[in-house]
Amino acid sequence: MKTLCLFGLIAASLVLPALAAGEPAVLHDKSVFVEQLLKRMTLQEKIGQLRLISIGGDMPKERLAEELTAGNVGGTFNSVTRHDNRPLQEAALRSRLQIPIFFAYDVVHGHRTIFPIGLGLASSWDMRAVATAGRIAAIEASADGLDMTFAPMVDITRDPRWGRTSEGFGEDPYLVSEIARTMVKAYQGESLGNADSLMASVKHFALYGAVEGGRDYNVVDMSPQRMHQDYLPPYRAAVDAGAGSVMVALNTINGVPASANRWLLRDLLRDDWGFSGVTISDHGAITELLRHGVAADGREAARLAIAAGLDMSMADSLYGEHLAELVGAGEVPMQTIDQAVREVLGAKYDLGLFHDPFRRIGQASDDPHDVNAESRLHRQAAREVARQSLVLLENQNQVLPLDKSARIALVGPLADSHIDMLGSWSAAGVASQTVTLRQAMQQALGTDGQLLHARGANITNDKQMVEYLNFLNWDNPEVVQDPRSAEEMIAEAVAAAERADVIVAAVGESRGMSHESSSRTSLQIPASQQALLRALKETGKPLVLVLMNGRPLNLTWAQGNADAVLETWFSGTEGGHAIADVLFGDFNPSGKSPISFPRSVGQIPTYYNHPRLGRPFTEGKPGNYTSQYFEEPNGPLYPFGYGLSYTEFSLSPPRLSAEVLSRGQRLEVSVTLKNTGERDGATVVQLYIHDEAASLVRSVKELKGFRKVWLKAGEEQQVRFDISEDELKFFDAQLEQVAEAGMFEVQVGLDSRSVQTQRFELR
Ligand code: NOJ
Repeated sequence: MKTLCLFGLIAASLVLPALAAGEPAVLHDKSVFVEQLLKRMTLQEKIGQLRLISIGGDMPKERLAEELTAGNVGGTFNSVTRHDNRPLQEAALRSRLQIPIFFAYDVVHGHRTIFPIGLGLASSWDMRAVATAGRIAAIEASADGLDMTFAPMVDITRDPRWGRTSEGFGEDPYLVSEIARTMVKAYQGESLGNADSLMASVKHFALYGAVEGGRDYNVVDMSPQRMHQDYLPPYRAAVDAGAGSVMVALNTINGVPASANRWLLRDLLRDDWGFSGVTISDHGAITELLRHGVAADGREAARLAIAAGLDMSMADSLYGEHLAELVGAGEVPMQTIDQAVREVLGAKYDLGLFHDPFRRIGQASDDPHDVNAESRLHRQAAREVARQSLVLLENQNQVLPLDKSARIALVGPLADSHIDMLGSWSAAGVASQTVTLRQAMQQALGTDGQLLHARGANITNDKQMVEYLNFLNWDNPEVVQDPRSAEEMIAEAVAAAERADVIVAAVGESRGMSHESSSRTSLQIPASQQALLRALKETGKPLVLVLMNGRPLNLTWAQGNADAVLETWFSGTEGGHAIADVLFGDFNPSGKSPISFPRSVGQIPTYYNHPRLGRPFTEGKPGNYTSQYFEEPNGPLYPFGYGLSYTEFSLSPPRLSAEVLSRGQRLEVSVTLKNTGERDGATVVQLYIHDEAASLVRSVKELKGFRKVWLKAGEEQQVRFDISEDELKFFDAQLEQVAEAGMFEVQVGLDSRSVQTQRFELR
């Protein structure tokens, strides 16, 4: 008799009954295996597979074991150690068909070692750095028994009021798509079945970053052309890179919630894009169909979601409560349920869980004694990646880098805040393991140097905001308020500044201010910190701002008053060291912002790749009857792709290999990049394309290529890009991707604003 021990190291009693009874061993053949298993499942067991349970949230731990053994659960999230996950898997394997569950978690920018937030990773424009962050996250998370991450988050946003701007990779479809692809491959590794691979659940499908007014969970209304051209490409890139799962967004799209959107989940995702993995709802999203008002009751919500193609419900009881009855009543065909279950079982198969349900959980004897042990962290990699994520926005009179023998006043509520270094969605990151700027600067300063520290201000004095941010953590508040008066704190900081050669002010937002459900109507640095900055400015000492925040803030005051501005986003476990490396010149900054910095909220949306207009404003010409505002110049304060270095670079005008590009051929664009300064350093050469005349209005420019180049002082290098028809394509009125014949501009620059141009014709 040919039997098969499915689960490797574990006991023969765990062999699937179907196979133990003598059926052929089919584990090597995914579809036969899944079909055989499906045939043996009751409707109740099938529905169980469609439930993703939030531990502690919708399910107390005590009840979970019972549900697992009853075969009522497909996967769980929020338990993050092998020790916690092992008994849950054992309980699942006591179910009739012994189907393993998978374990998911929000591993968004690191797991135990925290890397910079999405905006920071994107600022590196370095796919090796992005891959390092993703791979290490997968290694650490899988070593904790996790199988799936709810990442990458690839929502394009053009509205920094949205708190989740922090999680994403910025405003540009090309850059975000590159990162999406890189992240999926890094998480999933060589093969999903490997013990150190994590399945990626790309989110939030789709268009979540376009919520109206930047207010979280608000509606999304968008033309199909804009969707396809600007917002959908990153999800597509993740799917093409093999993402095993897609998380469905909470928002509506042109009136239809994503969770009940058959066009989105079936026509686009499965039929057009060929996605064959598992779709998962966002937290409680099926129940929210009632609140959206597209379902009259829970039964209808469950029917709409499953019919639309939503396979698994996350932390939502409606599938469990209604699907069986809906099938009985003939309102949901059994084939629909079967298809959803097939996707779930397929994901588990791909993760290697049928071969060994303990593939990532391992054996108890190998469990780490301390899950937070220092030895489990990847500090060096975190520091290297974080250094690349820092964007130097201003550096007047070369105030940076600082001298290690200087007397430095380090002030500001973020200078020594461990928790804020982590940024939002920091998974299993531990605040006390982060290096703050204060610790790092103290360590870096030479024996002649001196660090004078004063907090200077609370992050905010807005009582309501502080209460909101501390809501989940009353016992261990995230935002700790210094009880001293604002005047007293400022006076202390000013006194330190007066004794110092230079001031470094670490200001910005608490990490919770740029998070889910943390939208703002203002992009200002909170008033408490502004008061501090103005007082510091009065001292006349050089003022260096180190910004920590999860969205582009309004930096008009900073631009006019600070001597240097370093945007550090939230830079992770080793953030303090990385920032100190840049402040003291041990690392030459090379980050470029992946998002435009608007001058004010009134200017939003501000994005570089906006469509052309009939009455554009032209710099230096009267504004009458052109598209502009009274109060402020057009365009952002700092454009997309902008960031300074301690050295200087020159870029030659672009040279083209031909003036005409014939279809099917390629055209080479080359430029000479030279490091004309005195330090070694890196910059990013950016290639933009503009279609001069087309059947639909086209953007003023679109990023189509970039190269991060490191050059020694005085060194130069030819940088080459290939252009083919593919780079010239857009979605036309029929949503066909076409490259229309005619003239195109090639624009090359070190940011999106200052570019040099050449033209060619597509024939
Ligand atoms: C809700 C968030 O929108 C999503 O990004 C996250 O993955 C889930 N909660 C699970 O934590």
